Amino acid sequence: RENFIIAIDGFSSCGKSTVAKALAKKLQFVFIDSGAMYRAVTLYFLRQHINLTNPDEIRAALEEIHIDFVPQGDTVHIFLNGEDVSREIRQMHVSEKVSEISAIKEVRHALVKQQQALGKRRNIVMDGRDIGTTVFPDADLKIFMTANSEVRAQRRLAELLAKGEVVSIEGVKQNLAHRDHMDSTREESPLRQATDAIILDNSDLTQEEQLEIVLEEYRARM
Ligand code: C5P
Repeated sequence: RENFIIAIDGFSSCGKSTVAKALAKKLQFVFIDSGAMYRAVTLYFLRQHINLTNPDEIRAALEEIHIDFVPQGDTVHIFLNGEDVSREIRQMHVSEKVSEISAIKEVRHALVKQQQALGKRRNIVMDGRDIGTTVFPDADLKIFMTANSEVRAQRRLAELLAKGEVVSIEGVKQNLAHRDHMDSTREESPLRQATDAIILDNSDLTQEEQLEIVLEEYRARM
């Protein structure tokens, strides 16, 4: 086959990107964090005070947005119109708005198209919410990740605190519940488990164990 596509979907803070990154490193695939793209668009919309009820304004704004992924050492940084926004897109003010902006049809159409282009003729691991259902319905391997909500909130809290964000466990839980609800109930490509996805509940699994499970599924499809 020309290339191999691994789609990893699931709820917020299930550890999708951790598995996706480890997998990409191990297989020497390109890792693409589709959520970072929605976050970058959200940051742009917030900065420019885009009126979310005006489709023309939204379309014009989308035309102005250029997103690049640039590898730097062991990580990949995301650039919005030439500016490294890797840190800022993880901040709470972006997390609070991202699901609202991700539900906008014009936004999804623009980003899905870019994501599909990123998967042309190369091996990729992409994580998100609609990768196995909408972006790459023919992906070679689809994983749907879940974890219990307490585990997810604690992981997210630790991650944000490590970055110096001032947040509470309640604030994190509320944000996760809000995004999961918005992401699952939106009209345009809602978060759904693809019928042919492998379910990976990692509540009680180490990162090594998760990687091994996914690698086994990969080898079975080689
Ligand atoms: O993956 P992450 O949690 O950073 O994604 C942030 C938000 O972007 C999600 O809560 C969701 O609203 C949106 N998203 C999406 N479709 C994707 C990836 C992310 O709607 N494929």
